[in-house]
Amino acid sequence: MALAHEKYLKEILIDEATLQERIAQLGAEISRDYAECENLMLLCILKGGVMFLTDLSRHIEVPHMIDFMAASSYGFGVRQSTGSVRIDMDLRMDVKGKNVLVVEDIIDSGLTLAFVMKTLRNREPASLKLCALLNKKSRREVDIELDYVGFDIENKFVFGYGLDLDERFRNLPFVGVARTDPETDE
Ligand code: IMP
Ligand code: MG
Repeated sequence: MALAHEKYLKEILIDEATLQERIAQLGAEISRDYAECENLMLLCILKGGVMFLTDLSRHIEVPHMIDFMAASSYGFGVRQSTGSVRIDMDLRMDVKGKNVLVVEDIIDSGLTLAFVMKTLRNREPASLKLCALLNKKSRREVDIELDYVGFDIENKFVFGYGLDLDERFRNLPFVGVARTDPETDE
C-alpha cells in the first residue's frame, strides 16, 4: 500500500538527517548566544512550530521556559496568506522582562510574524528574537528581522515536520514539496 502522503508529495526538499543536523547547529548557536541568560523563554507559534520547538529545545543547554501561542492568517485549504492575522490562543506566561525567542516553522509573506512580534513587543520583554526553521524570502511582503534561520527555501508550498497540508501530515519527519495538483501528478 502506498503511504498516505505519497500522492501529495512531489519531492523531499529537506530530509530528516539534514533537518536534525541543522537544528543541532542552531541549538548550539543559541546556547552560546544566551549562555549568560537567566530567563530565556522559547515561544512556539502553533501549530506549525511544534516539531521544531521540541527538537530545538533539546539542543539548547541554557535553562529555559517554553510557552505556546497560536496565530493564523491562512484559511482552510488556502495556500496563501489572507493578510488578516488573528491570535487564536495567547500564551500563559507574562513575557515582561523575559528574554523571548520566538520559534516558528516558516516565514512566508511575513504578515503573521510581523503581527505577532508587534504584539509581543508591546508587552515589554527584556529582549525579543526570532528563529524560523524555513525562510521563503522571495514571498516577503513586510520587513522581518530574522535572528536564526534553518534553511532559505524557494517559493514552493511545503509540508511535513510541523507544516500541514490541509491540516494533515504534520507528523512527517522531513520537509517535502507538495504537488500542485495531486490528481494530475504535477
Ligand atoms: P505568512 O504570514 O505569509 O508569513 O505565513 C506564515 C504561516 O503560513 C506559517 O506559519 C505557516 O503556518 C503557513 N505557511 C506558509 N507557507 C507555508 C507552506 O509552504 N506550507 C505550509 N504552511 C505554510
Ligand atoms: Mg506557522
